[in-house]
Amino acid sequence: MDKTIQKPTLSARPILAVMGSILVLTVLALGISSTWAAKKPLEKAFPSSEKCKRCHLRVFEEWEASAQSRSIVSAPFRITLERYLAKADKKDQAMCFQCHAPHIAEYGELLPQFIKEVQSKDPQMDGVGCPQCHLIHEVDAASHPPIPTFELGKTIFGSYDKAAENLAHQSQKLDLFRNSQLCVTCHDSLPQTPQTAKDLPGWLGDWKASQAETSGKPCQACHMPEAVDESANGEKIRKVANHSFPGRFGKVRADAVELDFSTTVNGATSQVDVSIKSLVPHNLPMPHPGWSRIVVDLSIKGKNLKTVYNEQRFYQRVFGGGDGKETVFDFEAKKVLQDTLLQPEETRKEVFTFPTPKDAPSMDVIVTLTYAPVHGPQDFLKEVEQDAPLGQKDRAFQIVEIAQKKTNVLLKKK
Ligand code: HEC
Ligand code: HEC
Ligand code: HEC
Ligand code: HEC
Ligand code: HEC
Repeated sequence: MDKTIQKPTLSARPILAVMGSILVLTVLALGISSTWAAKKPLEKAFPSSEKCKRCHLRVFEEWEASAQSRSIVSAPFRITLERYLAKADKKDQAMCFQCHAPHIAEYGELLPQFIKEVQSKDPQMDGVGCPQCHLIHEVDAASHPPIPTFELGKTIFGSYDKAAENLAHQSQKLDLFRNSQLCVTCHDSLPQTPQTAKDLPGWLGDWKASQAETSGKPCQACHMPEAVDESANGEKIRKVANHSFPGRFGKVRADAVELDFSTTVNGATSQVDVSIKSLVPHNLPMPHPGWSRIVVDLSIKGKNLKTVYNEQRFYQRVFGGGDGKETVFDFEAKKVLQDTLLQPEETRKEVFTFPTPKDAPSMDVIVTLTYAPVHGPQDFLKEVEQDAPLGQKDRAFQIVEIAQKKTNVLLKKK
């Protein structure tokens, strides 16, 4: 809506209210989106983040290094999108973009262009860029999944009480920007389509009841950690929020879990009791994409540091497709076959038993928690590998360590 009617004078208000309802009715009747009359071109309404770089260099560089900046660029995304589009009804084809490039909500008619951008492997358009968050004016939390409303004017929304004036945009504080709800909009569930099941559980688990959330620590507290710096080039130093969105990659990983274990040797058999305490107020890992999993690995090294025993357990949500078989594509999931995700702030116990190494004076006991690389059907993995510019070196194929603990256990007295 035009910015000139943002601060109406008192006398103009009733007229505006009437105009407003006519506008709403017209919009509903025509089934068009919220912009009035001549619609701004896409690049004007959602300018490239490069346009913000000029004045917000630090923020831009952090964002550019983040996963959010790659939301429509990865090989797994391209290949999974293709698979989804091949089967989706015409009316549901924008589904993935709803979070990976949410401005589709305002420019649904440009869907073919969005798809072409993804296929180009080097999109000129951002997926989750600066305006895609900072033009969100409201989120309807009651709908499933929550739906954001953009306000496409000259005002940028943020969390500052008094942002310094500048020539590029007006600024307005919205409480939403310090609230988990902004993030939950895109981080809790896929929209329902005829392909997906009706009642799959959310990705985050019961985050609302978590200690972090109830003690006033929203998502931003951990994923946009506070620092002190310039918010815009040359502006005064003040509290700023880190925009590299650490998660699977980045520093927050060190604070994900407390890992502990004890070892008991009972003659020919030994036992390791592992305790994994999640410090995170949401599920770990998040079950989207459907192949996400955390691996708990126990390795026992005997004589000459040779691995004599190895066992792995997975924390994951395994989906069943229409044919009842396992699928890593959550968009075709009809039900959950198995769910071993670490729940918010849960402490999980794992007991491993194994043969005590023979002829060794001691053994190394090593417990490791990692994010597993992408897995799934062979043809899918081949396609991802061929599509990724770095092939097997793509980050999708990397193992990412979360925590590790090792001890040496004496087996014989000297
Ligand atoms: C418009 C949708 C949208 C909103 C709003 C959003 N995100 Fe995201 N976020 C994404 C998408 C899509 C990705 C995945 C990008 C990729 O890797 O393809 C992502 C990735 C992330 C990651 C990296 C995850 C990883 O595996 O390392 C973190 C952390 C994150 N977001 C946190 C947040 C926080 C905190 C907020 C709220 C301030 C937020 N997001 C708001 C869409 C969104
Ligand atoms: C409700 C919002 C939402 C929708 C809809 C959605 N995604 Fe995501 N997607 C995310 C978020 C958030 C992440 C980051 C997850 C994380 O790291 O925890 C993500 C991550 C991913 C990833 C892993 C990161 C990457 O870029 O390689 C892939 C692949 C992916 N999504 C594919 C899809 C596909 C294909 C669809 C449509 C079938 C889709 N997504 C629909 C929000 C969404
Ligand atoms: C996923 C959503 C998201 C994206 C993408 C995003 N921001 Fe933010 N931004 C936020 C939130 C939330 C806050 C408020 C954080 C707080 O106060 O804890 C914020 C705060 C800010 C602030 C004020 C505080 C500070 O750190 O300086 C500026 C300026 C800003 N963003 C600019 C940008 C620019 C420029 C980009 C793109 C390069 C960008 N943002 C991308 C969500 C986002
Ligand atoms: C001409 C320079 C300039 C450009 C271009 C610019 N900004 Fe800003 N922006 C500023 C200044 C100056 C501030 C005030 C910083 C302060 O108060 O510390 C600011 C403040 C902000 C804030 C904080 C608002 C609040 O109330 O919390 C956000 C968010 C923001 N800008 C986002 C953006 C985005 C997104 C873009 C690109 C579409 C952009 N800016 C382009 C100069 C600019
Ligand atoms: C108390 C700190 C804390 C809060 C609050 C928090 N997280 Fe996290 N989150 C973490 C940590 C730590 C990790 C890293 C886990 C890892 O990499 O092992 C993580 C991981 C993630 C990831 C990537 C992990 C994955 O498996 O894909 C996403 C996405 C994410 N958080 C989103 C959110 C959202 C959305 C909220 C708000 C509802 C939130 N987080 C609140 C600490 C927090």
